[in-house]
Amino acid sequence: MTGPFPNHPDFTGYNEPVRMECDIYDLVIEGEVPREISGSWYRSVPDPQYPPMLGYDTFLSGDGMVSLFRFEDGHVDFKMRYVMTERLLDTRAARRSLHGRYRNPFTDDPSVRGHRRGAANTTPVWHGGRLLALKEDSRAMEIDPVTLETRGEFDYGGKLRSQTMTAHPRWDPETGELYFFGYEASGLATRDVAVCKADADGQLVREEWFKGPYCALMHDFAVTKEHIVLPFMPITADLKRIEAGGPHWIWEPERESCIGIMPRDGSVEDIRWFRRPSCSVFHFMNAFTDGNKVVVDACYSKVNPFPFITEESKLPYDPRELEGALTRWTFDLSKPGETFDEDRVGPGGDMPRVADRYLMKEHEIAYYAIVDPTLGPLYVHGPVGAGFNTLVRIEPGNGRTTTFTMGPTHAFSEPIHIASKLPGHEGYLALVVDDHERYLSEAVLLEAERIDKGPIARIKLPMRLRPQVHGNWVAA
Ligand SMILES: [Fe+2]
Repeated sequence: MTGPFPNHPDFTGYNEPVRMECDIYDLVIEGEVPREISGSWYRSVPDPQYPPMLGYDTFLSGDGMVSLFRFEDGHVDFKMRYVMTERLLDTRAARRSLHGRYRNPFTDDPSVRGHRRGAANTTPVWHGGRLLALKEDSRAMEIDPVTLETRGEFDYGGKLRSQTMTAHPRWDPETGELYFFGYEASGLATRDVAVCKADADGQLVREEWFKGPYCALMHDFAVTKEHIVLPFMPITADLKRIEAGGPHWIWEPERESCIGIMPRDGSVEDIRWFRRPSCSVFHFMNAFTDGNKVVVDACYSKVNPFPFITEESKLPYDPRELEGALTRWTFDLSKPGETFDEDRVGPGGDMPRVADRYLMKEHEIAYYAIVDPTLGPLYVHGPVGAGFNTLVRIEPGNGRTTTFTMGPTHAFSEPIHIASKLPGHEGYLALVVDDHERYLSEAVLLEAERIDKGPIARIKLPMRLRPQVHGNWVAA
């Protein structure tokens, strides 16, 4: 047995841990899944095995669970397994939580000192014939793509020097290369950032380090066909504070944001810095180079969106201060100076996605999730608080949008895009939708061009899934 989880939004309602590994053969489907859709949809979910050792820990610390919707001939099978990290193995052996504060090993039970504490709970990524479960504070965990069994930590055959790997690597579909970075590359709160590239076979072919302006929570970055964009926004770490048992991250709104841009085939010596007042971007939609200009679409907010970080910074949290917007940053490399242009191109939201054909090139179409407060009451869902209740299809060039919603009771996870082989067809979007009234989850499948028409198929689960972080589609 285990005791109950805390009475806190990170652990109650739809955020209550599920802790279940399962297989379901042939899910019930309302509607029809086109037979051309064939492949695997992997999703990462933080799902804590035990209640937090110190009474509270953030949603983001939950043990990594990978789930798989396998599409074949109009059928969908489902599988869900924990990632057997050292953290989870230690925890299970003790039958209780042994880890203290988020990303603070100095608060852990002495029995796990020096053990790896990564939860592998953020993004499943397929590259070079390997399925990797990623979390930015650690190296990857390799997972069997069919059985979801854990194979162990993956460090590119011992080549990777960085102690960490982002959960948002960027794949170039034309070259097959995977660009990624690691921050806190040489240890907790260090300014070392590793810029890395793996070739199409999954071999590490490049790793170059530089020192950032400060140790920032670098959740994502952007890559174009010609440039790499490295953002530093002031959610910051300090080793003394961590050693004293304090929070890993503090939001420091008085500091500026610094964005480094380097030539993709150049060196970290060539990074050029741009600056603006503090802001927060957790996810970049896509980026492209247009002549001398580097264009980046960002899910921007004025302040840090995570309530636990703001509270631990001893600052008041008010979601109205977010002032979120899908924002286009344009860096003109032909001009001197450190400033850049910003334009609002869509409503504030997150979990952006573009079709693979647009990756690193100008995207005519994109998709993301927003919270529409006019729909009705908001439900707690995921780590930020309110769940997304609306999916947006946007053409950033002209600002044209269409939307899909299932009402205030249904919370949306990040969409994936599935390409179609039919000529002129925009492909499909799939996303998990969580019903806050019936406590059941389902996957909905939409025609990407006409999300406003509603699902062409609803793939039903007989239970509730814990809110997802990221997912990816791997065509068969
Ligand atoms: Fe993310």
